[in-house]
Amino acid sequence: MSAAAPGARPVPAPDPAERPALPAVPEAEVDLGVRLGPLELEHPLVDASGTFDAVEYARRSRGDFFAAFPYAAYVPKTVTVEPRAGNPPPRVTETAAGMINAIGLANPGVEAWLGSLSELGALRQPMIVSVGGNAPEHYAAVVRAVEAWAAGRAGARPAVGGYELNVSCPNLSGGRLIGAEPAATAEVVAAVRAETGRPVFTKLTPNVTDVLPVAAAALGAGSTGLALVNTFKALVLEPKSLRPFLGNRTGGLCGPAIKPIALRMVAEVAAAFPAVPLVGMGGVVCGLDALEFIACGATAVAVGAANFRGVEAPRRILDELRRELAVRGFGGANEARGVALAGA
Ligand SMILES: Cc1cc2nc3c(=O)[nH]c(=O)nc-3n(C[C@H](O)[C@H](O)[C@H](O)COP(=O)(O)O)c2cc1C
Repeated sequence: MSAAAPGARPVPAPDPAERPALPAVPEAEVDLGVRLGPLELEHPLVDASGTFDAVEYARRSRGDFFAAFPYAAYVPKTVTVEPRAGNPPPRVTETAAGMINAIGLANPGVEAWLGSLSELGALRQPMIVSVGGNAPEHYAAVVRAVEAWAAGRAGARPAVGGYELNVSCPNLSGGRLIGAEPAATAEVVAAVRAETGRPVFTKLTPNVTDVLPVAAAALGAGSTGLALVNTFKALVLEPKSLRPFLGNRTGGLCGPAIKPIALRMVAEVAAAFPAVPLVGMGGVVCGLDALEFIACGATAVAVGAANFRGVEAPRRILDELRRELAVRGFGGANEARGVALAGA
């Protein structure tokens, strides 16, 4: 490199965030539509399981909640075959840059849950049913019940678009995570695959040293795509007693604190499996966060903890995403996918 001529102004280091790679496009021309495997979505945003209760919001809203439903697909809280009371309280608390929860998959069980779906009769968007359990046959039983419910209601709402398999549950033998073990994950996926032809997204836990063997096992057993990440196992102390704050002692950390780790994991999985549809999540609170997950290879982006800031959060994040794409000259969400992976 030659030395700068005397008196020459130093060249400022390029700031990629300030420098649009392409001329800006009008916001109105940005195409937000994406294809998540076989699912055509209006835009990339979905809710993260357990953070957006559409039934509750619909009951509380004065206007027509479903006409302005902010997500392109609805992912309800994880449902299990039997009702679960969940963990002892306290179950949730704020942290410096996020929140920690140990809800313990409290849910009414699949039969009662299916009964509550009549309140979602005006939902236009597909529902991606989040399924949990402690063994492959538990997952299969939930999916069988949902398929039986869906049979004969073709065209009725809400429509089952597919399944998300929450494998971040401890299995029966010693409380180890199913999703930490490739073989156990594959067994769950295979058991579900035998029950349904609909798309299946395996939701990966970040609580592993290397997520790629689990991702490969899920895909090898028939998972259509992958969703990542679930929460990070974490501990918060109660300051007076210096005892664990949560009733369950440990919980799952989410929110902005985890975003850089989640981005790294999404990028690793996208680089290893470029053709696989991914739902990226972890700490998305603004449009730029969502764009970053897309740049790391996600097709859809889930919003979790940000939902607790208010029901308007997803609409704002979507408007910001459109603007962030436009100023960078992307004509659509698809054009931005994977741009962070070049040279990976
Ligand atoms: C209160 C709460 C409840 C959650 N419940 C579930 C759940 O039932 N099933 C699941 O797969 N993930 C659950 N999650 C994890 C989220 O879906 C998401 O993976 C995680 O919070 C990371 O996204 P975020 O940082 O945007 O919140 C829950 C998260 C929170 C905060």
